[in-house]
Amino acid sequence: MADGRSGVIITYFSTASAVGKTILSINMASELARIGYDVCLLDADIQFGDAEDYLALNPTYDLADAHQALKDDPEANIEQYLTIYNYRSINFHILPSPKDLTLAYNIEPEMVGKIVEKLQRRFDFVIIDTTSMFSSLNMILLDMSTIVTFLGIVDFIPTIKNMKIGLETLRSLNSDENKLRLVLNRSDSKTKIGRRDVENLLGESFYHILPNDYKAASQSIKTAVPLVLSGAKSDLATSLRELVALYTNRSYDDSGNVNDSDDEYYEDMYRNRQQSHNDRSSGGGGWFSKLFG
Ligand SMILES: Nc1ncnc2c1ncn2[C@@H]1O[C@H](COP(=O)(O)OP(=O)(O)OP(=O)(O)O)[C@@H](O)[C@H]1O
Ligand SMILES: [Mg+2]
Repeated sequence: MADGRSGVIITYFSTASAVGKTILSINMASELARIGYDVCLLDADIQFGDAEDYLALNPTYDLADAHQALKDDPEANIEQYLTIYNYRSINFHILPSPKDLTLAYNIEPEMVGKIVEKLQRRFDFVIIDTTSMFSSLNMILLDMSTIVTFLGIVDFIPTIKNMKIGLETLRSLNSDENKLRLVLNRSDSKTKIGRRDVENLLGESFYHILPNDYKAASQSIKTAVPLVLSGAKSDLATSLRELVALYTNRSYDDSGNVNDSDDEYYEDMYRNRQQSHNDRSSGGGGWFSKLFG
């Protein structure tokens, strides 16, 4: 593993299932790889992860193998447990969730944190797909993240209620709430609840809004080609790219070529990440320690 590298960690989290965490994680990993970054996607949905299915991969190793290797030897090289997704010479790495539910049960959250630290040293970006639970694993991953995408959809009142509780809990437990990005998926799906009403309720505007596009989403799952790579034009693919552009402070021209970069933006992200790392080390501020400490 290359020394001295320190990647950006972007985590997808929600308080409801089936809001698009996995689709967004995969597309973000794909788009970052497309524009030239070295990327690893970690499927931290340890019981029912399906990123490998969405990409039609058949990995030899998974998170349980990397976990065991690290337990046996803290210096273990976990790169050998990664699988490469490749589409037309664009590729990124993936560490899939355990195949076996009984193995998932034995995964130690702190050990996953150590795996993420190793990935962070090796890759420019580590994208983490999680579950909709305030579990100790998720809190460790959120604490480590540079950016947490809190993903929601506006469908039923209970979903919105849980979003509000989740968001308020994260805000109240961590001083570093700046890293939270509230993102709405499937915005124009048929619902009687208005987006503005939801924003008023949550006390925050959505950072980004992705359209509902059943055809594009299901086509990408069927073909196992992420929307941003397939070349098929859709509003959802454009919106996914826009989200990546926001996160990387880059812009695109009409043909999808990258235009700008802003080193200061990255420096800020690194500074924030270093700060939250220091907070964790000194035992203060983290979501994990506040909930489970
Ligand atoms: N913008 C969208 N438009 C239409 N369908 C979408 C959109 N985003 C996601 N979907 C669909 O919603 C379903 C759930 O997506 P996904 O598996 O990514 O959610 P998730 O949050 O990871 O779910 P889980 O909590 O079960 O892991 C999928 O069938 C996907 O195709
Ligand atoms: Mg998922």
